[in-house]
Amino acid sequence: MKYNALKGIHDIYPPDISLWQHIEKVAADIFTVFGFQEIRAPIIESTDIFVRSIGETTDIVEKEMYTFTDKGGRRITLRPEGTAPVVRCYVENYLYNLPSPQKYFYAGPMFRYERPQAGRFRQFFQIGAEAFGVAEPKIDAEILSMLKLLFERLGLRELCFQVNSIGCEQCRPGYRKALVSFFSDKLEGLCPDCTRRYELNPLRILDCKVDSCKRVRQDAPRVTEHLCSDCENHFGSLLSLLELLEVPHSINPDMVRGLDYYTRTTFEVTCEHLGAQNAVAAGGRYDRLVQEFGGPPIPAIGFAVGMERLVSLLKSSGEQNIPAPRTFIAVLGEDAGKQGLALANRLREQGIWTEIGYTGNSLKSQMRRADRLSAEYVLIIGDEEIASGNCKWKKLSDGSQGEIALSGVLAFFQ
Ligand code: HAM
Repeated sequence: MKYNALKGIHDIYPPDISLWQHIEKVAADIFTVFGFQEIRAPIIESTDIFVRSIGETTDIVEKEMYTFTDKGGRRITLRPEGTAPVVRCYVENYLYNLPSPQKYFYAGPMFRYERPQAGRFRQFFQIGAEAFGVAEPKIDAEILSMLKLLFERLGLRELCFQVNSIGCEQCRPGYRKALVSFFSDKLEGLCPDCTRRYELNPLRILDCKVDSCKRVRQDAPRVTEHLCSDCENHFGSLLSLLELLEVPHSINPDMVRGLDYYTRTTFEVTCEHLGAQNAVAAGGRYDRLVQEFGGPPIPAIGFAVGMERLVSLLKSSGEQNIPAPRTFIAVLGEDAGKQGLALANRLREQGIWTEIGYTGNSLKSQMRRADRLSAEYVLIIGDEEIASGNCKWKKLSDGSQGEIALSGVLAFFQ
């Protein structure tokens, strides 16, 4: 019996895993210098947490959650995103009593029962960051410049930073009214989901993926025309701070995002090379969520990067960065095999990645393996070398070669 992974769920293994690890390391380094610390929240949570935060009328909650009842009769959901669990953790553990701001980052798998296609999976990984306690637009700009730095460090430049403001509880009711009146004579053109959303949450019609809804909403009023003065000022300040921090951006007034918890700033980082699923990262402000989860009124903002999409962009841009051994020890004969093994051990103890020929195969086949591994150097040890106390070295990139004392190999690599 041969088993396959579930549809839309993928294994990650060498050599790709090196790229994943590289991204995770670069991200952790950058987030750390911006004052973010790692947080590890659970993969499963009470279903209610996601329904309350992401919103009952969103696609994620209506159609995409992996939800089950556990043996104790509790409704449990595999997290479809990372923000709600982090907010739950922040409130449950009174992290708001710590000096503000508190900034966290996380990495891990998320689960959405979506129709699998390029760039869209049922298990996918996100690296995310969430900052609590700052209402000023400075942190919105800081977060976007942190993302820009992350992509630059990884070697990606052709990205588009799209920003928008979707208002707050002050201006939302007015905008909702404008939407209701706009769609009131166009209901027959909407999909059944959106006809229902029209009553419950008309903003969601703007995020529907059905073509007929896209057509109907073309001339819908834009949220940016309905912002209150505080939201307008916040957005204006953000735009000038983005200039200051040299984050190239464009305003996308149609971007409302697929989750209900956002207030004011929303953003997406897109890349045309990704095709239909073109957002490699996305996020925004959620100034009311901490309070909705039973905490004090603390503003917050965050984002998540889609790892699979980032990996595919790096692979197509040639930024692979696959790590390779410093040295490969090719051994010829029984004694050389043992001496080589001992030498490999000494090098590894000093943190030098060393590979070795195990079977004492021909030199040619060992050289081939060293080549395939992209080893930097090959050391060749045979009976002759053991007798003389020297070994041959060869640098694979330029073919240079020479001889060194076996006792000097460690120093050579250090
Ligand atoms: P999101 O837009 O749902 O936001 O997801 C963020 C990113 O995760 C997307 O831009 C995309 O790169 C990736 N992604 C989402 N769904 C899939 C999928 N099915 N397959 C592959 N990649 C996917 C959030 O999740 C928010 N929690 C972001 C956030 C953090 N907002 C504030 N803080």
